Amino acid sequence: MGLSTNQSATSMTVADFGSFNRPVLLCGGAVSNLEALEALEAQARRHGIASDHIIHTGDVIAYCADAAAAAAFVAERGWWAIKGNVEAQLAVEAEACACGFAPGSVCDALTVSWYGHAENQMTPALRRWMADLPDQAAFGLGGRHFRVVHGSVATTNRFMFASLPEAEFTRELDGASADAVIAGHTGLPFSRAVGRRLWHNPGSLGLPANDGTRRGWYSILAPAGAGVRLRHLSFGYDHATAAAKMRAAGLPEGYAACLETGLWPSLDVLPGHERAAAGRALERRVCVWPAPGRAQLSAADIQPAPMIGPVPST
Ligand SMILES: [Fe+2]
Repeated sequence: MGLSTNQSATSMTVADFGSFNRPVLLCGGAVSNLEALEALEAQARRHGIASDHIIHTGDVIAYCADAAAAAAFVAERGWWAIKGNVEAQLAVEAEACACGFAPGSVCDALTVSWYGHAENQMTPALRRWMADLPDQAAFGLGGRHFRVVHGSVATTNRFMFASLPEAEFTRELDGASADAVIAGHTGLPFSRAVGRRLWHNPGSLGLPANDGTRRGWYSILAPAGAGVRLRHLSFGYDHATAAAKMRAAGLPEGYAACLETGLWPSLDVLPGHERAAAGRALERRVCVWPAPGRAQLSAADIQPAPMIGPVPST
């Protein structure tokens, strides 16, 4: 069933998350990984960020073992959240995840197992929670207008990778009525300048970034002078327990092993640039937007961060 695939921008619900004066934690792709969610909550606490300043960009449910517990975790804490393609599909008892994987690809074959596992854990209350999530959201911070989407602005399950041509980002941003888009779905963290505007993906909490490390990723967005500062941050968690639960549940070995190796089971969805980067450990970065003293954001404004401690090997 292609509910999300065929959904047009004009039919999507856009919630107003309001205006924030304090730092906001941006995240997505919890993918049924309860251990990663618990670790992320500890990270938020360490940064002094409360649940009502956390935004999740969708796919709280996917590859890992704790589909119901992960959804309940986010719902009970009242995080701001939008639908991913997985929530959109589970909410209506659809037969497949509508992830956008090519038919016949490795990832497409593996969806049968993990989506069925998640479907078996759903309750009427969880389906209602997912159905009530908006498709997209808008919020303000630091004098800027943000749009939160799952895949792209026009299509819930589009993979917007960092290496796509600028025209693709321009077209999507033009449809957003915003200065910046916060997106998910791809599982890879990046910030990309698009003229005066910005495209930002905080990465995935529950699936490693295919960089050979076991880390989950999130971002902190904070007011800074006349603009904002975005920090790409990573964290370790009890990946061994998460992987053991997946094996005990009979879920695909490729995703269980991924939690241990930091490498995806297949590179099918990746463009050449991202494919070539597989296994190279990502750095945490900071993006100041706009750069001090200039109105125009350039690629140079997305710089290596002053590190907040060493990049962990786990
Ligand atoms: Fe997704």
